[in-house]
Amino acid sequence: MAVIKVRNTSEVIEGHDNVLTFLEKQGVLYEHWDMSKLPEELKEKFVLSDEEKEGILTAYKDEIEELAERRGYKTWDIVALSDATPNIEELLKKFENVHTHTEDEVRAITAGHGIFIIKGNDEVGYFDVELEPGDVISVPEGNPHFFTLMEDRQVVAVRLFIETEGWVAHPYQDTVSK
Ligand SMILES: [Fe+2]
Repeated sequence: MAVIKVRNTSEVIEGHDNVLTFLEKQGVLYEHWDMSKLPEELKEKFVLSDEEKEGILTAYKDEIEELAERRGYKTWDIVALSDATPNIEELLKKFENVHTHTEDEVRAITAGHGIFIIKGNDEVGYFDVELEPGDVISVPEGNPHFFTLMEDRQVVAVRLFIETEGWVAHPYQDTVSK
């Protein structure tokens, strides 16, 4: 389950209901998929062939189609990042810039970990959402955020898009520190 860390207060929010309540208040979608549906050989694999990516999408076909129908996503794919990814350092540096998108950014983690750092309302400020396998999150359209890996430096996630062009990152200059 996801863990939230509020940067200004160092408050830590854990437990499904607490996380859900906090994220709902910030307009962030949070759901959880059953990881037992993922074939064993794909659970800790971070360099994936096209067939293996297809295997993940097949395992979660029902969840993906239901989410797509509910929220209007038209296409989906798999992203895998690890130290085996060419230019991983450059990519991570690029990811750490606060930005927005013209559509929501939805990710379902199927292996490894990732953190979305999201700008909450004025009272909350920036908060980290640490994600583990099974966690599904959507950062709302236009909401400043950035993404980074955790200590394991590896993640596999399903991405869903309304329009792939909608995922272009627009830099966001903030007056408050992240
Ligand atoms: Fe983003």
